[in-house]
Amino acid sequence: MTEAFTGCHRKDMDIRQVNVFDDSEIEHFHAVTERAEAFERPHHSGWSLDEAKIELRRQVPTERSEVWAAYVEGTMVGAMSLWFPLLDNLTKCWGDVGVDPDHRRRGVGSALVAQIVTRMAQDGRTTMVTESAYPFDRREDHPYLRFAEANGFTVAIDEIRRILPLPVDPTLLQTIAAEAAPHHTDYRIASFVASLPDELVASYCALSNQLGVDAPTGDVDFEAESMTPELWLEHVAKEKEMGRTRLSTLAIDGTGTAVAYTDLILPPEPNADVWQWGTLVHREHRGHRLGTAVKVRNLQQLAAAGSGRTRVLTCNAETNHHMVDINVRLGFEAVEVAPMFELRIDATANERTEGVAQVSASTT
Ligand SMILES: CC(C)(COP(=O)(O)OP(=O)(O)OC[C@H]1O[C@@H](n2cnc3c(N)ncnc32)[C@H](O)[C@@H]1OP(=O)(O)O)[C@@H](O)C(=O)NCCC(=O)NCCS
Repeated sequence: MTEAFTGCHRKDMDIRQVNVFDDSEIEHFHAVTERAEAFERPHHSGWSLDEAKIELRRQVPTERSEVWAAYVEGTMVGAMSLWFPLLDNLTKCWGDVGVDPDHRRRGVGSALVAQIVTRMAQDGRTTMVTESAYPFDRREDHPYLRFAEANGFTVAIDEIRRILPLPVDPTLLQTIAAEAAPHHTDYRIASFVASLPDELVASYCALSNQLGVDAPTGDVDFEAESMTPELWLEHVAKEKEMGRTRLSTLAIDGTGTAVAYTDLILPPEPNADVWQWGTLVHREHRGHRLGTAVKVRNLQQLAAAGSGRTRVLTCNAETNHHMVDINVRLGFEAVEVAPMFELRIDATANERTEGVAQVSASTT
């Protein structure tokens, strides 16, 4: 499983693929990446070691993940993960790079990016997408932005992370729901825990497949995803194994088709956070306040579950006024900039040095 990387910038550093089935390796990976992401970020919401193990060990048909780490004198000092979509968006991949705060500014992050370029070229991927986060007052000069620029990344779109403290005033939710209700009388609003009734899964998948296309993503054009009911059931089974609870609310039209959805994810305790995932209203059903209706109802479902969670985290493109307006009305407060960066390499690049040369050239 382990492959050696021979072209490091530093002679005392090597980069190897992490064997995610080895408990010690994955523990180090989890510790280093959590330290990297949480550093100077009071709003960071991480994942547990157990979640990481299941996510990285249990591969699914929709995407393949791999993890690499940088070692100095045998100690893991940084790591990167890549997710390759397998059914759509075949020229793209998602990734993360993180360096332990005690080992920064010594070329570790750049060496990991070089390895990303190698793996992209080997796998025929030309665009890598990643996210970072930093305070508003450093959005022009934060070290993570400087690092991204130095390594050939560009900002695809600025997203803003917002937090909703819990509990939300139930009167506010009732008021917003009552204001929206007259606008969506032709639709039924229904909430579900963990999964969905069989008859709604196909139309739910059609909606969620469209999220990357319809939500603003700046310079990156995503294709529709290829989630099918069978794949989705596999996806939620994995989620359940990770200890996560999904709260979904759908708007359903007169034909029994889901035309709007929103999902909240409760990671396993003791994590007290709730993650807002996708929200989408079908193009032909917009203008009926369904976005507001499903979000409010899902927050009411969350309150009724009495989960004791303390905050909901969400992230939206800064330009996505329709979604942001709803969130602000619900009480979400902006806490940090969370830019989506992209790294493009030439499609013909077939080895690391070519890839790096082309990335560098694109920054000048
Ligand atoms: C961003 C991160 C990966 C950088 O790791 P690193 O090992 O310190 O990066 P490098 O040493 O390879 O830095 C390469 C270049 O980035 C720029 N850079 C990195 N840190 C910087 C800082 N604090 N101030 C200014 N420029 C900086 C510099 O141009 C640097 O080259 P130089 O040292 O020769 O001037 C690390 O800070 C981290 O883990 N951050 C959290 C996750 C994240 O934001 N990932 C990146 C998403 S694109």
